[in-house]
Amino acid sequence: MFESVEIVSSSRASSGGALVLGVFQPTREGQRPALDKGTQRFDTDGSIADALARPESTGEVGRVVETFPTSGRKAGFDRVITVGLGKAESLTADTVRLAAAAVGRRLADSKTTSALIELGAALEESGSSLGEELAGRAFGESIGLLSFTFDGLKGTASKGAKRGKLSLRASSRKFSGGMETGLGLAKSANISRWLSATPPNIATPAWIAQQARAIGRSAGLTVTVLEGAALMREKMTGLINVGQASVNKPCLVRLEYKPKGGAKAKDQPVVLIGKTMTYDTGGLSLKINNGMRGMKGDKDGGCAVLGAMHAIATVIKPKRRVVALLAVAENSVSDNAYRPDDIITFRNGVSVEVTNTDAEGRLVLADALCWAKDKENPAAIIDIATLTGGVIVALGSTFAGMFCEDAALRARVEEAAGVTGERVWRLPMHQEYQDMMKSQVADIINSNPDRKAHPIQGAAFLAYFVDPKTPWCHLDIAGMHVDESGKGPFVKGLPSGFGVRLMAEVVASM
Ligand code: BES
Ligand code: MN
Ligand code: ZN
Repeated sequence: MFESVEIVSSSRASSGGALVLGVFQPTREGQRPALDKGTQRFDTDGSIADALARPESTGEVGRVVETFPTSGRKAGFDRVITVGLGKAESLTADTVRLAAAAVGRRLADSKTTSALIELGAALEESGSSLGEELAGRAFGESIGLLSFTFDGLKGTASKGAKRGKLSLRASSRKFSGGMETGLGLAKSANISRWLSATPPNIATPAWIAQQARAIGRSAGLTVTVLEGAALMREKMTGLINVGQASVNKPCLVRLEYKPKGGAKAKDQPVVLIGKTMTYDTGGLSLKINNGMRGMKGDKDGGCAVLGAMHAIATVIKPKRRVVALLAVAENSVSDNAYRPDDIITFRNGVSVEVTNTDAEGRLVLADALCWAKDKENPAAIIDIATLTGGVIVALGSTFAGMFCEDAALRARVEEAAGVTGERVWRLPMHQEYQDMMKSQVADIINSNPDRKAHPIQGAAFLAYFVDPKTPWCHLDIAGMHVDESGKGPFVKGLPSGFGVRLMAEVVASM
C-alpha cells in the first residue's frame, strides 16, 4: 500500500497533495451531507458543495467522494477527498479507523504522496466525546495498519507493485499528535503481523528468540532466553514435552521493560504471557488434513506480546515495569514425541495426564504462569493465546474470548478494547469447569474427551497454575489472530495483530 508513512508539521506543506475532509450522514432521509462551518472556507468555488450534492454522497462510514476544484490547485491541492463519518451521534474511534482506511486506499490508488487531514472541525461540530487526540490516533493507527504488506517472500514469478511514500499533516496539533501515536502503535502491530506471517520453515523457536533479541535491543528492552539445560533446571515441563519431537528446540523468552529513571524496588510488574507455537501439527493426536493449514499462526499470542512490548517501550513508556514471557515450541511428530497417556509433573508440583497432544498450548503456558508466580511477583498477568478452536465456534471472528474474574482488571481490558476496537467478550469460570479437568491417575488432564466447553476447559486448566490472589486475564484469540473480514485497514487472510494495541492500552491504564 505505502512504502512508508510519516507525519509532518502542517507548516511543511508540499503542494500537489490531497485535502481530506469529513462529513456526517444526515439524520433526515433524502438529505445530503454538507461541510461543517469550520471547513467551508476550503470550498472557495462551491465545487465541494456540488460534489456533496451528488447521489453517491451519503456520508456513510467510509464513503469517499472526490472533487477536483480548480481553486484547490491554487491552494496547493490536486484533489479534495470527503469521507463519510456516519451519524454524528454514533461517532467512535472505530468509525474513524474505517473512514481512514477508505481514505488511505484512495490515496494509494491515486498515487497521492501528501495529504492534509482536516477532520477536527467536523468532530467539534458533532459534539462527539471522541476528542481530537483520540480521533487522530485512530486515523494514524488505521493508515499505519493499512500499510502492512507481506511480500518479502515473493519470488521471480511475481511482479512487485511499486509503493509510494505518504506524508500526512493536520492543522490541529492534537489531531497531528494523535496521528503520530497511532502510527507508532500500528508499527508495533505490524511487527507482530510480520512475525506471524513468517512461515514455520523460517520462524523456528530459535528464529523467534533471535527476533525477540533484535526487537528488544532496538526498543531498549532486556531480553533473556532459556533453552536446553536451563529449561530442565527450571522444570519447564510443558515446553520440554511439547517441543521434544521437533529438531527445532523449544525456549522461554523473557523481555523486560524498565521505566526511565528506574523502578522502585517493590514495584510489581505487569506480566504478559504469549503462547508461541511456531507450528502446531497436533503432535501424535495429529490434526487431520485441513485442520493443520494455518497453524503457523499458532505463535500469534507470543507475536502479539512482542508487538505490545515494542509499543510499550517506544510509544506508551509507562512508569512501571512490564515483563513479557514467550513460551516457544514446535508441536511436531517423531518417535521422540510426547504421547497421549503420558503423565508429566510441572514446576508447581501439579501432575498432568496428557489425554490429547493437540491441547499443547495450555501446557507451555502453564510453565510461563509458574515462572511468573515464582520469579516475577506480578501485579497482574495477561496471557494471550490461539488456544482453542472452540472459541471460534462460540464467538466467531467478532470477539476474542476473555476470562477474568478480577473486576478491576476486567474493567481495564474492556475499556482498552473500546479504545482500540479489539473486541473481547467475557466467558465464565466456575469450579465445575475445574472439576471437569480432574484425572483418575494424575491431578488433572489437559483435555476432557467430552466435547463440552472447550475454551473454558482451557482457561480452567490454566487456573491450576495461577496464584488465585493475582489478578489474571486469559485471552483466547484463535478466532481473531487472522483477519476474516477484509474491513477497514485489514486484509482478509493476513494476520490482524490482534492484542498488540489492546495490551499496550491496558498497560497504559495501569
Ligand atoms: N492451536 C489450536 C487452536 C486453534 C484452532 C487455533 C484453530 C487457531 C485456529 C490448539 O492447540 C488446538 O489444537 N486446540 C484443540 C484443543 C482440543 C484438542 C482440546 C482444538 O481446539 O480443537
Ligand atoms: Mn493444538
Ligand atoms: Zn495450538
